[in-house]
Amino acid sequence: MQNDNKIIDESKQGEALVVEAGPSAGKKLFLESYGCQMNFADSEIVASILTKEGFSTTTNFLEADVIFVNTCAIRENAESRVRQRLQDYKKVKKGNPNAIIGVLGCMAERLKSQFLDEEKLIDIVVGPDAYRDLPNLIEQAESGQKAVNVILSKEETYADISPVRLDHNGVSAFISIMRGCDNMCSFCVVPFTRGRERSRDPESIVKEAKEAFDKGYREVTLLGQNVDSYLWAGGGLKKEILTEEQKANSTTFAQLLEKVALIHSDLRVRFSTSHPKDMIDDVLHTMAKYENICKYVHLPVQSGNSEILEKMNRGYTREWYLDRVAAIRRIMPDAGISTDVITGFCGETDEQHAETMSLMKEVQYDFAYMFMYSERPKTLAERKYADDVPEEVKKKRLQEVMEIQTESSGLRTKQGLGKVHRVLIEGQSKKSKDQWSGRNSQNITVVFDKGDAKKGEYVNVLAETCTLSTLIGRIVE
Ligand code: SAH
Ligand code: SF4
Ligand code: F3S
Repeated sequence: MQNDNKIIDESKQGEALVVEAGPSAGKKLFLESYGCQMNFADSEIVASILTKEGFSTTTNFLEADVIFVNTCAIRENAESRVRQRLQDYKKVKKGNPNAIIGVLGCMAERLKSQFLDEEKLIDIVVGPDAYRDLPNLIEQAESGQKAVNVILSKEETYADISPVRLDHNGVSAFISIMRGCDNMCSFCVVPFTRGRERSRDPESIVKEAKEAFDKGYREVTLLGQNVDSYLWAGGGLKKEILTEEQKANSTTFAQLLEKVALIHSDLRVRFSTSHPKDMIDDVLHTMAKYENICKYVHLPVQSGNSEILEKMNRGYTREWYLDRVAAIRRIMPDAGISTDVITGFCGETDEQHAETMSLMKEVQYDFAYMFMYSERPKTLAERKYADDVPEEVKKKRLQEVMEIQTESSGLRTKQGLGKVHRVLIEGQSKKSKDQWSGRNSQNITVVFDKGDAKKGEYVNVLAETCTLSTLIGRIVE
C-alpha cells in the first residue's frame, strides 16, 4: 500500500500508521505464529520493526515477498506442525523464486543453522533475541546468501519497541514483562530457546499499557514464563548480584501489577504464568485489592506426586502446591484457577499418576492444559532419565486426567449459574452474530444477546444456562 512515498499500515486497528518509506518500501510481509502468547507478542515486535522498514503486512502468503514463521519447540508435535507448514511455502517459491522464507522463534533457536540443512527452502534463521537484526538478515538473504542470527542476549527486552498489534479484536493486548527463564525444569526446552531470565523496565511496561488503553484496548495480559520472579532494579543491574538495599528499591511483580492496575479502573489486568515455587501472598493481596485485576491464576502443577516433581526439578512438593492453592482461595475466595499437567514423565508409576488425579480432584480446576510427556533434546531429563513410559500408557493417562478435568470444568461453570457476572465484551460469539462473547473476571466465557452494548464495553450479565465451559445469559442493569 503505497501513498506518496509513505507506507500506510492498516493492521493498526483502524488507525492508520504512517511510516516513512524505508529500504523495503512496498514489500509485503506474511507473518505466522505458533506456540505460546509470548511468541505471538514477539511477532508484534517483528511487525513493528519491519513496518518501520517499509513493509506492509498481508494475510495471503501467496502474494508475500517475505514469509516469516514464528516457531515453537515445546513438544515434538509443535515442531512437526511447523515442518508440515513449511511444505505449503514451497508453492510460494515456485511462483516467486525471489520470495524469502524465514523461521523465527524457539525452533529456530534450538536448531540454529542445522535448520538450513534440514529444510532447503529456508533463507533466514533467527532466534528470539535477534529480531532487531532482521532488516540486515533480509538484505543478506536478498543478495542470495543464507542468513542466521541465533545469538541470545542477557539484556534484550525490546522495551523501546511499540508493538504493531496483529490481533483483530482490539480489546485485549498482550505485553511481555520479562524474557527467558532460569528455572531449568528438567523436561523443558524454553531455557535453551529463550535464554536467561531478564525483566523489562516497568516504566516501559506501564507506557505500553497506557498506549493500549488510549487506543481503546480494555484488557492487558502481562506475560512471562515465571512472572513471580519479575524484579527490576534499574538498567543493567542483575538480580543475582543485588545488595539488600538495591533489592529494597527494586520493583517486584506485585508492585508492577499495582502500577498497571492504577492506569485506569476500566483497564482489566491479567497475567501468566505464575510459578508455584515463587508465588507469594503479596501478589495475591494486590490482586484482591484492585477490582480490575482479574481473579484468575494459571498455576501449572505438572504432577501431583512429589518424587516426580523433584525429578522435574520444579522446586516444590505436592504439599507446597496445595498450600499455594489454599492461599489463593483464602485471599480471593471467588478466584478461578487453571493448570498444566504432563502425563507419563520419565519413570512415572501408576501410583504416582494416581496422585496427579487425586490432586486434580481436590483442587477442581476451572481449566487445564494437559500434555503427554515429549522428550526434548539437550534437556536435563533427556540426559538423565529414560523416556520409559510407553506411548499408550501416556495416552491412557492423558485420557484419564482429561476426564477428571471435564467434570471439574462442568462443575465450576455451573457454579456461575444464577449469578451476575461483569463481562468485558471482546467480540461476536462464534455461534451467532446476534450475540456478544466476553469473559468474566475468572476467565470463564460468557455469551449473551447484543442489545445496545458495544465491543470493548463492560456489561453485567445474569447467567441463566451453560455448556461445559461457557455461561449463557442476558444483560441486566
Ligand atoms: N513457564 C511455564 C510453562 C511454559 S511451557 C511454567 O513453568 O509453568 C507450557 C507447558 O508446556 C508447561 O507448563 C508444561 O506443562 C508443558 N510442557 C513443557 N515441556 C514439555 C514437554 N517436554 N513435554 C510435554 N509438555 C511440556
Ligand atoms: Fe520451562 Fe520451567 Fe521455565 Fe516454565 S519455569 S518455562 S516449565 S523451565
Ligand atoms: Fe513454544 Fe517457545 Fe513459547 S517453545 S511455548 S514458543 S517459549
